[in-house]
Amino acid sequence: MNKTVLVTGGLGFIGSHTVLDLLANDYEVIIIDNLVNSHIEVLDHIATISGKKPLFFEADVRNEEVLNKIFKEYHIDAIIHFAGLKAVGESVKKPTLYYDVNINTTLALLKMMKKYNCHNIIFSSSATVYGESRELPFTENMNVGVGIKNPYGETKYINELLLKDFATSEDDMHVILLRYFNPIGAHKSGLLGEDPKDIPNNLMPYVLKVAVGELDHLTVFGDDYDTPDGTCIRDYIHVLDLAHGHVLALSKILGMKDKCEIYNLGTGKGSSVLEIVHAFNNVNHIKLPYVIGPRREGDAAMSFASIEKARKELGFEPIYTIEDACLDAFNFIKKHVGKE
Ligand code: NAD
Ligand code: WQD
Repeated sequence: MNKTVLVTGGLGFIGSHTVLDLLANDYEVIIIDNLVNSHIEVLDHIATISGKKPLFFEADVRNEEVLNKIFKEYHIDAIIHFAGLKAVGESVKKPTLYYDVNINTTLALLKMMKKYNCHNIIFSSSATVYGESRELPFTENMNVGVGIKNPYGETKYINELLLKDFATSEDDMHVILLRYFNPIGAHKSGLLGEDPKDIPNNLMPYVLKVAVGELDHLTVFGDDYDTPDGTCIRDYIHVLDLAHGHVLALSKILGMKDKCEIYNLGTGKGSSVLEIVHAFNNVNHIKLPYVIGPRREGDAAMSFASIEKARKELGFEPIYTIEDACLDAFNFIKKHVGKE
């Protein structure tokens, strides 16, 4: 029988792409999402692309009444927990909201796992947990949690501790922590992608708003870093590759003996801000207006993953380039602009 996966935040940017890959691999998918940062149309787009409509519950993951209903009615083999708030700047202004949503969603799910005998949870962590660590590339066994610069990042670290302790204390409970680097790109159909409602903080959404004329130029945050072109280096991973990492992690966790495993999901390669701008210009035949501005507080010069562990233990192998991601993201935003 096909395995059933509860995907929290399954209509969001990474969640929606993962749902598609799960459906393509014959998993039964149940989504719970309160639409705080996504749109119900995404469900139709998933159905259009996959030919399958997953079961959907519009609810907050902290709502235990709804969770009880789901877990009572369906046998959940595994949870993939994407739901949460992710705007770094907002988390500084509203820390209690971020701690509440990002921690209490996990606690509610863990309670259900115990109550209904669900043994597996995969969690969306982040490269942000590496904090001020400067030893590159980042490997999973490094110390984490020191020098995290904002409440959002702290909630990821606390979730890691919480999930590890949960797995240790319980018999036969399995946890996989996935540390994402910088997800960019969109689905090839142009139907799924990322289009934040407010002025974006992240590089690619900002680039896209400039490319479609909603903002007049990009500011590159500093060109005096100790990097080849002076701009910061990050590990940008196509969201389709990232999504596939979850399918591989799911297949791992369903037969896993260990209690908790951690995997970086990036490409293992770094690209500078200017390399992204140039790649975007080249593949889309445009000339993105940009200015060089001051450094942004809290930015590290370089961040990129070692993906050897994910390669070896999950068979993870990213296939898309930053050029693919720039093409797909622009294709998505051109189709999407002015629709909301
Ligand atoms: P997203 O905002 O697009 O998706 C999150 C989804 O969760 C949205 O659909 C939102 O409506 C939903 N949601 C939020 N709070 C909820 C709640 N209380 N109950 C139910 N649904 C809720 O974000 P994303 O980029 O797809 O990120 C997914 C996960 O990956 C998040 O946990 C995020 O912190 C983590 N992550 C993201 C990045 C990134 O750069 N995008 C990097 C590292 C980690
Ligand atoms: C990338 C690079 C900026 C905007 C953040 C979170 C992290 C994770 C991913 C969730 C940096 C530069 C950006 C702009 C720029 N999210 N930049 N002009 O900071 O690596 O990571 O998102 O877990 O937790 O902190 O990503 O996209 O904000 O920045 O020059 O207008 O682009 O300085 O070098 P970051 P980002």
